[in-house]
Amino acid sequence: MSLNKEINKRRTFGIVSHPDAGKTTLTEKLLLFGGAIQVAGAVKSNKIKKSATSDFMDIERQRGISVATSVMGFLYKDKQINILDTPGHKDFQEDTFRTLTAVDSAIVVIDVAKGVEPQTEKLVEVCKMRTTPMIVFINKLDREGKDAFDLLDEVEQKINLKACPLSWPVGMGQRFKGVYNIYEKKLVLFNPHSKQDDEDVVEINNLDDKLLDKLVGSEAAETLREEVMMLEEVYPPFNIDDYLKGELNPVFFGSAINNFGVKELLDCFVEIAPPPRARETEERIIEPDENKFSGFVFKIHANMDPKHRDRIAFMRICSGKFERNTNYYHVRNEKKIKFSNPTTFMASKKEIVEAAFPGDIVGLYDSGNFKIGDALTEGEKLHFKGIPSFSPEMFRIVHNADPLKAKQLNKGLEQLMDEGVAQMFIRDFGGSKIIGTVGALQFDVIQYRLEHEYGAKCQYEPIHLHKACWLSWDNENKFEEFKKIRKRDLAKDKHDNVVFLAESAWQMKTMQENFPEIKFHFTSDF
Ligand code: G4P
Repeated sequence: MSLNKEINKRRTFGIVSHPDAGKTTLTEKLLLFGGAIQVAGAVKSNKIKKSATSDFMDIERQRGISVATSVMGFLYKDKQINILDTPGHKDFQEDTFRTLTAVDSAIVVIDVAKGVEPQTEKLVEVCKMRTTPMIVFINKLDREGKDAFDLLDEVEQKINLKACPLSWPVGMGQRFKGVYNIYEKKLVLFNPHSKQDDEDVVEINNLDDKLLDKLVGSEAAETLREEVMMLEEVYPPFNIDDYLKGELNPVFFGSAINNFGVKELLDCFVEIAPPPRARETEERIIEPDENKFSGFVFKIHANMDPKHRDRIAFMRICSGKFERNTNYYHVRNEKKIKFSNPTTFMASKKEIVEAAFPGDIVGLYDSGNFKIGDALTEGEKLHFKGIPSFSPEMFRIVHNADPLKAKQLNKGLEQLMDEGVAQMFIRDFGGSKIIGTVGALQFDVIQYRLEHEYGAKCQYEPIHLHKACWLSWDNENKFEEFKKIRKRDLAKDKHDNVVFLAESAWQMKTMQENFPEIKFHFTSDF
């Protein structure tokens, strides 16, 4: 098959949601459609429980399991679909952010009763940074929830998406009758007791058809007619170009657990979702159909077995064809490197892959060669953009608790930071090492892994900081001025970029106001 055919066949996407909205359930139903799993429940083992009491080792164990389900591939209607799993747990949000740099589109799941929740907002924001096309799936229609129009308002106001409903619910909760597929002009009837992949679909080209009254009752039929008329007046018609530009967002309604409305979503997805898109590097734009291979590492997963410190680096292929046992150029290390057992992930199975194409994710066994963001090419020096670190919000000073193991501690810290578990900043004043994370669990994870994988011990000292952000400036004098008064709050990240450690929101705001010539960046990607 030609490279172009391979590229056009692929759809690589991520599902994002606030925990509990139904991401895992939807993933599972999609896999069932693709025949990638045979029974419901197969994906559940990957689920990290979100209760406050969850023990971090449990989470690490779960993360171990999740290697196998980090990427779930299946074929549907002749398309190779790759779902990239995004951890739901808040403390692993940064993993999710990075995974989103490797997708070409996303599905946003929203709980009908809860509407747009805080994590949905953050994740959508990250997708928007890269103008990722997004489809919205409003889930749990079998339960009582918010009014569908109010939900569309929330989608527009809270997450700033341009809603374009392609299906519309007929009732909800106890009175839920089904959804009208506006896109295909079909009524899909809800029967919670029907066999799950057997949808009751009736074509209704004209909503005035009396058949509608017969199927859902006159009252519901009348409401549907009125509501669809209103939709047509208020919301723009679907336009694929606007969707692909990230300017229009199709909305579907359904109930993942009942496998209802999922097929409509998937059918529309395979039709409209983009094939692998071009990627930006600092040097130039990389088109997927370039003959030469290129790819970048967006996630590194540590082996859970302490006897084997090897890790799996997840690489997204951006252009050309990747082949097993072939020498590639590791741009940062300036070294040739080849892989004898790269793996792909077809849901339940991990398989050695001979060749992979743009949009594919391959797992590379790694003994410490990779950092997040690393590029592999056929020789060109490329640096992929858009794999940022985010401003951490929790901080602790790390100390060595075993003076004989200083080397091990430094190595361990360095490798854990390369994996993206947390970020480390070295304070200019005094040189203390400050670890910044997005979630409190990471501190326990670091301490545990340092001890079990590197034989090193660390202690934390609390430090009160509001946020770390990166600084850039054109006017050196202004920065010198800033430095004079905030010397104690300056640090360097691993690339020697200047970082400001703000003590409070108030201090951050004041500094931004007093130094308009200095730019304060909340991701490292500036
Ligand atoms: P997440 O990955 O986004 O965190 O959500 P997940 O799929 O695990 O779903 C969260 C809960 O919502 C689960 O219940 C799941 O069964 C339920 N759920 C998902 N889709 C629907 C739906 O369409 N309707 C209804 N009524 N519930 C839905 P749980 O009790 O937390 O877990 P479990 O015991 O069912 O596994």
